[in-house]
Amino acid sequence: MQAAGAVVAEVLEVLKANVRPGATTLDLEKIAEEETKRLKARPAFKGYRGYPFCLCTSINSEVVHGMPSKKTLNEGDIVSIDYGALVDGFYGDAAVTVPVGAVSEDAARLMRVTEESLGKAIEAAREGARLQDISFAVQSHVEPHGFSVVREFVGHGIGRELHEPPQVPNFGIPGRGVKLKAGMVLAIEPMINAGGWAVKVLSDGWTAVTADGKLSAHFEHSVAITPEGPLVLTKI
Ligand code: MF3
Ligand code: CO
Repeated sequence: MQAAGAVVAEVLEVLKANVRPGATTLDLEKIAEEETKRLKARPAFKGYRGYPFCLCTSINSEVVHGMPSKKTLNEGDIVSIDYGALVDGFYGDAAVTVPVGAVSEDAARLMRVTEESLGKAIEAAREGARLQDISFAVQSHVEPHGFSVVREFVGHGIGRELHEPPQVPNFGIPGRGVKLKAGMVLAIEPMINAGGWAVKVLSDGWTAVTADGKLSAHFEHSVAITPEGPLVLTKI
């Protein structure tokens, strides 16, 4: 899983470096496809329940599962890039939200707080803790900022499958849920909205957008629980 995580981290770094005004999300998809090949991995999302791309690219009010297209990225946009890889039978999955050129203070704050919440969730992913300690770490960090936690999509276990039990919600009550054990690997992925938590799925069957049209941010890491504490697999 470290090998799969390393591929995911490396590909996301290359993609981040290619986000700029005027680039299209299909440009990013092509890069992801090439990099996946170069690193002798397989894309995790392409073909998953009929999903046609290596990446999910979710812009501004798109929450998750936005599809790469010929639409260009514009200065001031924020874009979530979600990517997964399969290496030697194991999956890795991670996401980042990045600014396109200069963005508003509100957008920057949403991204910062969402990334911070992922950090706090990772810190809570410890042997002996409970699953919802992770959930609560996200919720309790973002809500005081006036942001809301998406309910309809959650993180997940990951391993020989992209999505394994348990589900990892980003809201919850401390001390509840399964006990965390060394050897578990979780894809922790806060999806945080600037406005309300409600989302809807567009008629393409994939793209989830905020119901109120406000911004949304998304960060994700695949994290192994070890006797020495949380180990982030999808980090360089
Ligand atoms: N990181 C997302 C997830 O875990 C990406 C999956 S997109 C899909 O659900 F296309 F593969 F479904
Ligand atoms: Co995921």
